[in-house]
Formats: sequence, C-alpha cells, structure tokens
Amino acid sequence: MDARRIVLGVTGGVAAYKAAELARLLVKAGIDTQVVCTEAARHFVGPATFQALTGHPVFSDLWDERVDSGMAHIDLGRGADLIVVAPASADFLAKLVQGVAADLLSTLCLARDCPLLVAPAMNRQMWEHPATQRNVALLRQDGVELLGPDQGEQACGEIGFGRMLEPEALLEAIEARFQPKRLAGLKVLVTAGPTFEAIDAVRGITNASSGRMGYAVARAALEAGAEVTLVTGPTCLTPPRAARVIPVTRCQDMLAAVESVVADVDIFIGVAAVADYYVLNPSEQKIKKDAHILTLELAPNPDILASVSSRPSPPFCVGFAAESENIEEYAELKRRRKHLPLIVANDVREAVGAEAVQLVLLDEAGRHVLPLADKRTQARRLIAHIAALYQATRP
Ligand code: CTP
Repeated sequence: MDARRIVLGVTGGVAAYKAAELARLLVKAGIDTQVVCTEAARHFVGPATFQALTGHPVFSDLWDERVDSGMAHIDLGRGADLIVVAPASADFLAKLVQGVAADLLSTLCLARDCPLLVAPAMNRQMWEHPATQRNVALLRQDGVELLGPDQGEQACGEIGFGRMLEPEALLEAIEARFQPKRLAGLKVLVTAGPTFEAIDAVRGITNASSGRMGYAVARAALEAGAEVTLVTGPTCLTPPRAARVIPVTRCQDMLAAVESVVADVDIFIGVAAVADYYVLNPSEQKIKKDAHILTLELAPNPDILASVSSRPSPPFCVGFAAESENIEEYAELKRRRKHLPLIVANDVREAVGAEAVQLVLLDEAGRHVLPLADKRTQARRLIAHIAALYQATRP
C-alpha cells in the first residue's frame, strides 16, 4: 500500500468525528492522506486533529498561500490516487451534481483526474428526500462510487438510512480500490474460525482459533474482485462488509452451510479450525457437578474439506495445515490425502493469536515461503498465488 496517496475530503456533519478515525486508519495502512475540510467541517473537528493524525497541514481555502503555485485546487489533487469525501453532506452531494466550484473541496472534486468515492451522512429524511435520491442517481451515472450510507440510530435520535459507514468499512472499500482484480467474476467460499461442539446447554469443546486468518483471506478475496461467502464459527470479529456471511456453531452446521453453496463456487478455501470430534448425546440441560468421574463420548466429525475436494467436479480447493511438528512433511501428506492443489502450512504454536505469521505454500510445483508478515499481507499474497494457480488450471 506504500506510495498510495489520497485526498480525504471532510464536509460539515456530526459524522466528521469519525473522519478523524478514518484518517488514522488510512495512515496506519500506509496511505499518504491529505485532508481537505469545508468551512462547515471545521465547526465539528478542528484541523489540528487531522494534522496530528496525518502529518500534513489541512487545507480549506481556495486562496491558501501555503500552496506555492497559488493553485491549491489543482496541486492538491495531482498525484492523488483517489479523492474520498467522508462524511459527504446532502449539500455537498448537490454541489457535486451541479459541478459547483464553491470552495477548495468542491473545486478539487471538479478538477480531479482520479476516481471519487463519497460516504454520505445525513438525517434519514434528508437522505430519503427525492432531491437527494435524484442527486445520488446522477452521481452514480457520473461514475462516482457511493459508500453507504448505513442504517441505524442517528445523532438526531431518529432511526433509518443516513448513517455514515464505520471507518473500518470505509477503509475496507478504499483499500480494495488499490488491489489488482485477480479474481474478478469468480465465486469464493471461505470457512473460518473455530467450531463449538456442545457438551451441555452452556459448555462445549472448541479451540483457540481467533478466525483472523480466515477473515483476512475472505477480505483479500473480496479486494481481488471475487464474490465471497464466509462460513464462520463463533468469533469476536466483524466480518468484511461485502461478504455474504453464514454464521455456524458445530462442524455439522458448517458442513451443511458449505454444502448449500459449494456447487456454485469456483474456489474453496478451508481456513476453519474444525473440531475433529463432537460429543455424542450432549445434555440439553446444564450438567450438575457431583463427585463422580464424568466420561464424555466423542465421535469423529466429518471432514468438510475432504468432502468438498472429493466431489465429482470440485472447486479449486485450498487447505490449511496447522501443525506443531514436522510441519511441511505433515502438511504435504495432508495435501495429498485430501487431493488438494494447494495447502498452506503454518506452525500452530506461532500462529494462534499472533499478529504476524510465516506461511509455507505447498503445491505441485513445490514449496513457496511467505516470509513473516501480518495476516492481512499474508492473505493478499496467498490470494495472488491462488489466482495464478487457478488461472493456470483453466483452459
Ligand atoms: N478441515 C475440515 N473439516 C474437518 C477438519 C479439517 O474442513 N473436520 C480442514 C481445515 O479447515 C483445514 C484442513 O482441513 O483446511 C486441515 O485441518 P487439520 O485439522 O489441520 O487437519 P486434519 O485433517 O484434521 O488432521 P490432524 O487433526 O490429524 O492434523
């Protein structure tokens, strides 16, 4: 993401406070961020906040003398890969439609030579008003990408459409613009997280998988242009906004969810840490303790990945092998046993809960090391490898 540059336009609305968080996330993601505020935005969040977060002075004025050429409306937009206006008020959307160059931000949008993304934020009646809806339709026709709005509780106390998307969701959409569309037009199914096999009404058998790797893989596939279904065991994570999400608990439920969509997918990536056993006859009530030894009877769970890869015409199947010893040897054995074109080997002692991981990809051509990096980066590298192998197998 380095050397990417965006102009973050902030217009006047309560959601401007969320733009500060967006600026922080963008900078953290390695995106050089230049903030341009409207006068109204300055009533909500001061320029010092954005300046501290981005490391750049904030501009608002067409006649700002800090821009050497005296052409702030041209210079600030040049070299930008994107202009993102978040929040975009109803008034600002109307200005964009009309091509009004009333202040620095609207003039920058008019004089741009890069894509424009807007994240509307306004009261629900303003959003639903025919004038705003007409403006939105015209903006889409003009090639402007609309991010949201979401629905929910608003600052005014009303409930409906008009909430700005959360900063994380905006970052997701912005980052996706920078990724090559290697999986455009393809359908990808990802399993993620642990499963939970009930012992009684409140207890169960599970494992330490956080789901972060699986969610990162789903997100990387979305960024690469795929349509993604994410079948997920219980996790604390927010799934990628653009994915179709099927939450499940037990291995059996995960298998059923996978079977309900797998016939229609091109690529299946099994990242879930599926419990190998389930409890026979779990108690419907909470088991009361007594002084006796409690014996649980466990029966083997079905292998979801193996059942997908043994279908008559399987999708391109990718497995994960979490091992604690003889990592590559065991992973390669698993790859062959489950008839997979690709398996991702990792050291489970390092991977669970860790920010950064090293992965080794094993395929017909041999081994490919993905050196230590955060899970988001590894997921993008993995998707690039999958896309190359997938394309090579197609006529
Ligand atoms: N997997 C699956 N269904 C299962 C068990 C595993 O789909 N019931 C998938 C996982 O999502 C992963 C791969 O199979 O992609 C490897 O899982 P792992 O548990 O490491 O391997 P196992 O085949 O269960 O072998 P073992 O537990 O003996 O290491």
